[in-house]
Amino acid sequence: MIVPVVLSGGSGTRLWPVSRKSYPKQFCALLGKDTPFQETVQRTKTLGLEAEPIVVGNREHRFIMAEQLRQVGIEAASIILEPVARNSAAAMAAAAFWQARYDEEAILWFMPADAAIENHAALKEALDQACEAARQDYIVTFGIRPTRAETGYGYIQQGRLLEGQENTYHIARFLEKPDAERAAQFVQDGQHLWNSGMFVARARVFLEELKKYEPTIHEAVSRAVQKTDCDLGFVQLDGDAFSRAPSISVDYAVAERTDRAAVVPSGFSWMDVGSWDAVWELTPKDENGNAVRGNVFLDRARNCYVNSDGVVATVTGVEDLIIIVTGDAVMVSHREQAQDIRHMVSRLRDEG
Ligand code: GDD
Ligand code: MG
Repeated sequence: MIVPVVLSGGSGTRLWPVSRKSYPKQFCALLGKDTPFQETVQRTKTLGLEAEPIVVGNREHRFIMAEQLRQVGIEAASIILEPVARNSAAAMAAAAFWQARYDEEAILWFMPADAAIENHAALKEALDQACEAARQDYIVTFGIRPTRAETGYGYIQQGRLLEGQENTYHIARFLEKPDAERAAQFVQDGQHLWNSGMFVARARVFLEELKKYEPTIHEAVSRAVQKTDCDLGFVQLDGDAFSRAPSISVDYAVAERTDRAAVVPSGFSWMDVGSWDAVWELTPKDENGNAVRGNVFLDRARNCYVNSDGVVATVTGVEDLIIIVTGDAVMVSHREQAQDIRHMVSRLRDEG
């Protein structure tokens, strides 16, 4: 059995002011009609997975998650609630311990709630290959051919082919968020792939590796799951126990260290919808390269992204800008500086 696990804990500060702490990006419809969270859960159905999904997210967002699942007709899901955010290793451990109570050999497909994926046939092929390796007790990642020296991703150095597999390789080395110089080197040498942020592994295997490298997370989350409180259909992790887990991402906690890691070089199109320039890239554009959403009027603008959910936004004679208008905030940024919005948001929080 393959159980989809949707990690929905990101805060999405680079997509401010649409994405807010109380209503982060994975729950905001930025591209199509559905939100990234909804698209992610629906994708598992499109691929033919029948198991009930497990969703792991912050307690504060429980009603948003339940409502958004209901809107797309998913009535049955385990919604695991974190009392505090402890990063992806602990969130994945919570899902793995939860599943292990019923079936520790089940294969979990962990996925972020905020990636845009096209070409489902290629995704299905990669998933099938990943599952085959996961059945042999590997923790499997999906490798994406890098197109730029991005420092916000993990890089996977492809090793030798796994025995008996056609397109699944050992990972020679996994390096999370390298500096700019190394990232450039990795893109150039042609031996490295980006980590897509999705993982496939048996619940037992993931937990064994976590115990080996981060026993404190393992212990804390194990207790938090033993002492869950099921209320209104939500699975609430025990707050005292869970908050003892160190906050480390799975990439540092497990992927960089384990020798059971494998990678499937994948052909689906993948994008991390993390910033406004990514949204611009993914939105259909007019003949001048502008992408708009909502109530927007443009004149002689080029390569801009403008999004207004209420008042009319009129934009004239500018290039390469991102302009976002919401009920209580306006944000203007150069497209190339869209990654830096997070610094502004944290200053706003501290000083505002
Ligand atoms: N439930 C829950 N709780 N989910 C979390 C938490 C948490 O505390 N922290 C992170 N997540 C989820 C995020 O919502 C996201 O879906 C996923 O885990 C990855 O976390 P990010 O914080 O977005 O990681 P990243 O983008 O810096 O790096 C990861 O993704 C890259 C691809 O987008 C890594 O896996 C990189 O190696 C990878 O290249
Ligand atoms: Mg991310």
